[in-house]
Amino acid sequence: MARPPNIIAPALLCKTRSDVEKKLKLIAPYVQRAQLDVMDNIFVPNKTVQPKDLRGLKTKVKIEAQLMVKDPAAHISDCCRMNAWMIIFHYESYKNKRRISSFIKQIRAHNRKVGIAINPTTPAAKIKPFLTLVDLVLVMTVKPGFGGQPLIPATLKKVKQIRRWNKTIDIEVDGGITARTAPLALNAGANVLVAGNAIFKAKTIREGIAALKARFK
Ligand code: DX5
Repeated sequence: MARPPNIIAPALLCKTRSDVEKKLKLIAPYVQRAQLDVMDNIFVPNKTVQPKDLRGLKTKVKIEAQLMVKDPAAHISDCCRMNAWMIIFHYESYKNKRRISSFIKQIRAHNRKVGIAINPTTPAAKIKPFLTLVDLVLVMTVKPGFGGQPLIPATLKKVKQIRRWNKTIDIEVDGGITARTAPLALNAGANVLVAGNAIFKAKTIREGIAALKARFK
């Protein structure tokens, strides 16, 4: 079974709707997908724009909403109203197998793609039971909350593990992904690269994205 295609998804770590709209306009010519960071200042020590502030968001870019929040279920309807294509929640928000399985069903009932994320210190084994229920696993390669942090190399062992368990699932990495670290993540088995600073702090957006795509095999 073939490994899924390599994808770049710029990270939208924004405080306001206008910042999201501005960044979407900048990346739309180069990517089909982007990841919106949603932080509640409880699950992580930072606060971003919330899905409720993004209702009716118009873009052709497919948005993955990464819910770094204490109560992901509270955000589902607003993620739908902002036309999120995928809802990614953290294993650590629930930790309970029954609760996680029912939340995945809840997201599916809203006709959204589903991703499950794990923090750097959470073992990959915790999400193994859900691999057949989700479309994507997000292995956080930094402690969630802020952009511009260095990738934690030990997290790539989890990418390798998950890829061994499942050859076809999307494995996404997020945090410290640059032209230097992208090959490490790709070789470990990741195929979706989320990047913030490497794209938005590059000389131009086009060059930032091209530098990452140049690392695809
Ligand atoms: C961290 C966020 C990441 C971050 C990525 O909590 O989830 O998406 O914005 O930023 P870089 O790519 O600059 O590490």
